[in-house]
Amino acid sequence: MLVERQWLWKENRALSTRLKYAKLRQPACVEDIDYRHPRGLQRSVMEHLSGCDWIRYAQNCIITGPTGAGKSYLACALAQKACRDGHRTVYFYAPKLFREIQAGQADGSLPALLKKLANVNLLVIDDFGLEKANAALYRDFLEILDDRHLTASTLITSQFPPSRWHELIGDATVADAILDRLIHGSHRIELDGDSMRKHRDKGMGTHQDPCAFAAGLGGSPKGEDLKEKKGDSVVPQAGLRLGQKPTRS
Ligand SMILES: Nc1ncnc2c1ncn2[C@@H]1O[C@H](COP(=O)(O)OP(=O)(O)OP(=O)(O)O)[C@@H](O)[C@H]1O
Ligand SMILES: [Mg+2]
Repeated sequence: MLVERQWLWKENRALSTRLKYAKLRQPACVEDIDYRHPRGLQRSVMEHLSGCDWIRYAQNCIITGPTGAGKSYLACALAQKACRDGHRTVYFYAPKLFREIQAGQADGSLPALLKKLANVNLLVIDDFGLEKANAALYRDFLEILDDRHLTASTLITSQFPPSRWHELIGDATVADAILDRLIHGSHRIELDGDSMRKHRDKGMGTHQDPCAFAAGLGGSPKGEDLKEKKGDSVVPQAGLRLGQKPTRS
């Protein structure tokens, strides 16, 4: 019993660390995905991606669709599952990533950022193309993708289909190189339809606590005692509270 609790405590602590590092933008969970509103989302595709084999094989995933279609939610749900399966994951809102690249160019911290990103199994870049960036930023972005090519996975969401990324990036050579590293063999989810925000506000969404799923506890209704929010990341619990050491029983 003590060994089991110690194992659980260690697993829980490792998962908490991965989730904190990932800094996911919203608490989403693959088990909690709402498929009721038809918008080009196939349960079979999501179940396949939830297995995380695509991350083991260093493949990429591109999720596109109009605002509110659920791109960020699906990206965070897959990223949360990746954390649960032991993959080092980092989420970046694309405009923030480009701001960090720019700051890194200015203060010399760019190599550290590139190294950090090269070392994660799954890099999520949410809302690519929302803000325009200059040619120098796209060149460093290309370097990030090049470091990951065939060795680690990148998940990109965008309101724009890849066919319009040349137009967004501007420089045809850099755009070709970016697309070449991202598109081939990538998994694609193309969402359509109106905003999920409208449906959620009408009470259509599900209300299970994703953290309870993360903790392997099944659909605990709200599970306030099971989670602890730290900054903008959500920390799951698995039978023990954060920081609580196992006790002899
Ligand atoms: N499959 C889903 N199951 C449950 N809730 C969902 C699902 N998809 C989206 N939602 C909810 O709908 C809302 C909008 O989703 P989301 O933020 O992912 O949209 P988006 O496509 O990223 O929009 P934007 O382009 O404006 O960033 C969120 O509150 C999210 O929690
Ligand atoms: Mg979004």
